[in-house]
Amino acid sequence: MKRFLIDMEKVSLKYNVESFLYKQILKPVCFSFEPEKVHNSFVKIGKSLGSYKLSKKVTSALFNYQNPMLEQDILGIHFKNPIGLSAGFDKNAELIDIMGDIGFGFVEVGSITAKECKGNNGVRLKRVPERNSLLVNLGLNNIGADAIKKKLMGKRYDIPFGVSIAYTNCKENSIDNNAIKDYIYSLRKLKDIGNYFTINISCPNTYGGQPFTRVEAYRKLITEVGKIKINKPIFLKISPDLNRKTIDEILNISYEYGIKGIVCTNLTKKHDFSKGGMSGKYLEEKANELLKYVYKKNKENNYGFVLVGVGGVFSANDAYKKIKLGANLVQLITGMIYNGPQLISEINRNIVKMLKEERYKNITEVVGIDNKQS
Ligand SMILES: Cc1cc2nc3c(=O)[nH]c(=O)nc-3n(C[C@H](O)[C@H](O)[C@H](O)COP(=O)(O)O)c2cc1C
Repeated sequence: MKRFLIDMEKVSLKYNVESFLYKQILKPVCFSFEPEKVHNSFVKIGKSLGSYKLSKKVTSALFNYQNPMLEQDILGIHFKNPIGLSAGFDKNAELIDIMGDIGFGFVEVGSITAKECKGNNGVRLKRVPERNSLLVNLGLNNIGADAIKKKLMGKRYDIPFGVSIAYTNCKENSIDNNAIKDYIYSLRKLKDIGNYFTINISCPNTYGGQPFTRVEAYRKLITEVGKIKINKPIFLKISPDLNRKTIDEILNISYEYGIKGIVCTNLTKKHDFSKGGMSGKYLEEKANELLKYVYKKNKENNYGFVLVGVGGVFSANDAYKKIKLGANLVQLITGMIYNGPQLISEINRNIVKMLKEERYKNITEVVGIDNKQS
C-alpha cells in the first residue's frame, strides 16, 4: 500500500506538470487560433506520432496510465479502461494508433457517411469558454465509407475502436428512404472493420434535421439495418433533447431489433446561439439526466443495453459520476481540448484512487450504484 501511494505521488506530479504546461503555455497559444485549424493541426501531429514505434513509446511514457482495476470485458470486447474518445474528433480514422498511447481505452471514429462530405459552410467550430463548451456546426465532414474502408481494412490496433455511422449531409437525404440507403451502404461497406458500430441519429447540424428521431422513421431504418449480417455489436447514439416518450419508444424498438448499446448523448441543440450543437459543461447535466433515465428503463425492462456516458467530462469525478449513474463506458472530447491530453490518464488514475478508497476491486462494481433505488 505504501509503495502504491509513493508511486501514485510520482505519477501525480508528472500529470500536474503536464497539466500546468498545457494550461499555461500550449492552450493559450492554441486558443488564439481558429478552433478548426487547431483541431486539424492536432490531427496531423497525432497521426504522425502514431506512425512510428519510437514516437508511440515516448507518448506512452509521457501520458499512458493503465491499471487492471479499470479493465472490463463488454460484449466480447476487452477494454483496458473505460475512457474513450467520442465520435467527431477523429472523423477520418487517423488517430487510432496514438490514442492508446495517450491513455484512451477505446476510440469511436467518424461519424462516417456513404459519400465524402465537406460539411457545412462558414465558421463551423467555436469555443464558448465561459461555458467550458464548444459550439459545433461541422455538418458531418468526412472522407466517406469507401476511403475509410481502404484506410482501415486489415489493420490491427492496440485498443478497440467503434465506427460511428451517419447519413451523408445533403439535400437528397432529407427523404427518409435515401438517408436509410446511405446508412445501409456504409454499414455494408464497413461491416468487417472495427469492434462495434454506433448508429448516429442525433447529429444536430445536418440537412433535414434529425429525421430518425421520429419513431416510425427510426423503425424503418433499424428494420433495414437488421437485414444485414453484422457480427459485431451495434450501438445507438441519442440526442439529449428528445422527450421521454420518444426515448421510451426508441429504446423499445432498439431492443426489439437487437441494438446492444446506447450512447448518451450527442450535442444539445437547445441553447441561445443561432445554430450548431453545444458540447461540454453546458451539456453535462442534461446528458447525465438522460443517462440516469436510460439506465432506469434498461433495468425496468431488462433490455441489457451497454450504456456509454458522454457530455461534459472534465475530471475523474465527472467520469466516475457517469459510471455511478449507470455508464459502463465513458467518452469525451471537450474536456481534453480545455484541460489537455494528460486528462485521460489523470481520470483513470484518480478513478483507481477512488475505487481503492471505496474498497472496490474493479470498475464494473460501481456501474449504476448511485442510480439503483430512484
Ligand atoms: C468537434 C466535434 C465534432 C463532433 N462530431 C460528431 C460526429 O461526427 N458524430 C457524433 O456522433 N458526435 C459528434 N460530436 C459529439 C461528441 O461525440 C459528443 O457526443 C459531445 O461533444 C459531448 O461530449 P463532450 O462534452 O465530451 O465533448 C462532435 C463533438 C465535437 C466537439
